[in-house]
Amino acid sequence: MILLLGAGGQLGQAFAGELRRRGASFIPLTRNALDYTQFDLLFDYVRKMSPEFVINAVGYPGRPNVDGCEQARELTLHLNTLLPQTIARVCLITNTPWGHVSSACVYAGAKVMTGGETRIERDLNRPEIRRLLAQHPDWVRGFTELDEPNFSFRCAPCSFYSGTKVLAEDAIRGVGWSYIWRPGMLFHEREEPRNLLCRLQRYPKVYDSVNCLSHRDEFVRACLDLWQRRAPFGIYNMTNPGAVTNRQIVETIERILKPNRRWEFWGSDEEFYRMAAKSLRSSAVLDGSKLLAAGIRLRPVMESLEHCLRHWRPALDPTDHPGSPTFAAAMGTP
Ligand SMILES: NC(=O)c1ccc[n+]([C@@H]2O[C@H](COP(=O)([O-])OP(=O)(O)OC[C@H]3O[C@@H](n4cnc5c(N)ncnc54)[C@H](OP(=O)(O)O)[C@@H]3O)[C@@H](O)[C@H]2O)c1
Repeated sequence: MILLLGAGGQLGQAFAGELRRRGASFIPLTRNALDYTQFDLLFDYVRKMSPEFVINAVGYPGRPNVDGCEQARELTLHLNTLLPQTIARVCLITNTPWGHVSSACVYAGAKVMTGGETRIERDLNRPEIRRLLAQHPDWVRGFTELDEPNFSFRCAPCSFYSGTKVLAEDAIRGVGWSYIWRPGMLFHEREEPRNLLCRLQRYPKVYDSVNCLSHRDEFVRACLDLWQRRAPFGIYNMTNPGAVTNRQIVETIERILKPNRRWEFWGSDEEFYRMAAKSLRSSAVLDGSKLLAAGIRLRPVMESLEHCLRHWRPALDPTDHPGSPTFAAAMGTP
């Protein structure tokens, strides 16, 4: 039996759906059923139920977006750092393997190869880097799992969200048997407020950053496949291969969905941060070759994005539509 913590969240529901589809035996645990943040309660529960594997899909990514973490620092630290540490201890004592959802946001930038040298470039929005990405994408390489996170409290500046995710990785690494899964921003086929493809359709103005993304369901399948194949424990970058800009995504939305609107973009980073954002956004490229070497292939990001948009599933509930106030309340800038 697999124990799924945070089963009511976006990723928790996706894990539950995939486990159901696979016919796996699992317990979808929510904090209403058990306060799994309490060491004693979680320890007793895990000892009693003896799960073969624990999935931690709990975390605070901020509401309506990562800016929310700056205002809710206590909760962010509690869910993103202290809880993973508690789970790590429980799993260590009970000899239970487990998987933790971290984030690609632990990095900023990419490795840039020019003149036979490789250097780390933190700001992917610099015009020369954007040119390089457009003309020679092979010269811009992602961070591997061997690279230390560089969007952290130790390598400031960073967002509070990313800082807490890095602290969690530090606390878990090498303790017991664990996977640390690093997804990028999540997208999928359904018209839901948290889906990046919906957010971009809703924003009056878009910030044209370079992103690494993960198709939500491909990500969840890959996490479970790692466990099912008994791949070595450790950190795995789990973004769909390739970097993509928000402008490219918007152009793809325009080409495939043909919506009746035109997009505006923030004129500069300075304008975006002055007018629309409170915390720094992580913009990074990750290398997924370790996951590939484990026999798990995620589709190239553009292929996966196009597939989503060609199989777009509009919301059945009109209040879930990008034009509605309810939908707007759930949104923010990416
Ligand atoms: N969203 C993204 O784009 C993204 C990308 C990369 C990584 N991640 C990471 O993935 C993890 C899950 O993200 P998500 O998007 O699925 O988040 P979510 O929808 O907000 O779900 C998080 C879950 O955390 C649990 N939780 C426990 N105590 C809570 C509290 N006091 N307040 C709020 N939630 C509480 C809840 O689970 P129950 O009530 O069901 O127990 C909630 O459903 C996080 O660690 C996040 O850092 C997210």
